[in-house]
Amino acid sequence: MSRRRAGILISGRGSNMAALLDAASDPSYPAEIGVVLSNRPEAPGLERARAAGVEAVAVDHRAFGRDRQAHERAVDGVLRANGTEIVCLAGYMRLLTPWLIARWQGRMLNIHPSLLPDLPGLNTHARALAEGRTEHGCTVHLVTEDMDAGPIIAQSRVPVLPDDDADGLAARVLAQEHLLYPKALALFVAREDLGGGTLQPVAGPP
Ligand code: GAR
Repeated sequence: MSRRRAGILISGRGSNMAALLDAASDPSYPAEIGVVLSNRPEAPGLERARAAGVEAVAVDHRAFGRDRQAHERAVDGVLRANGTEIVCLAGYMRLLTPWLIARWQGRMLNIHPSLLPDLPGLNTHARALAEGRTEHGCTVHLVTEDMDAGPIIAQSRVPVLPDDDADGLAARVLAQEHLLYPKALALFVAREDLGGGTLQPVAGPP
């Protein structure tokens, strides 16, 4: 069976990206990583991807001023030139416009550090502690126009310990993210290959 070609969007460290690259280095994994793209040229994840032999490209959002869609068109161009079929957001800290979301509808995954639909948005670990939650975790979901609210593909649960601080909790959730994202991508591809999914042919340029 041919492998699906994924592109990964990052903004920084890229530890989830590295987990996906590790998984995809096994030829029996159902996806290959064709390109890693960052909106920040200084993102450490870019070097990490290059070291793994994967094409890594910066498309600096600052070069596009306030024109978010122009930046996204450049990002989209890189993804399409690379033959991307599935986009994985992995710590990509940009709000997407409806244009890019529509372009990749049903084919764009995100990882979020909470048990969605609980705690969408930022600072999820501190908020989980402030709310006195006993359970926290991470979610891989499809990206839709409603932020952090698309259909859930997979989740991992992490207990909140009595002496947890935000950093300690974040580290334990991150360790689960690294296990979850490769599993969720494989699950997504398997579902598509069974014909039960939503993977559509790539639309031509508008
Ligand atoms: C991860 O914890 C990811 O879940 C989170 O950013 C971190 C990126 O780390 N994403 C979001 O908060 C998206 N809303 P990484 O660059 O080491 O993968």
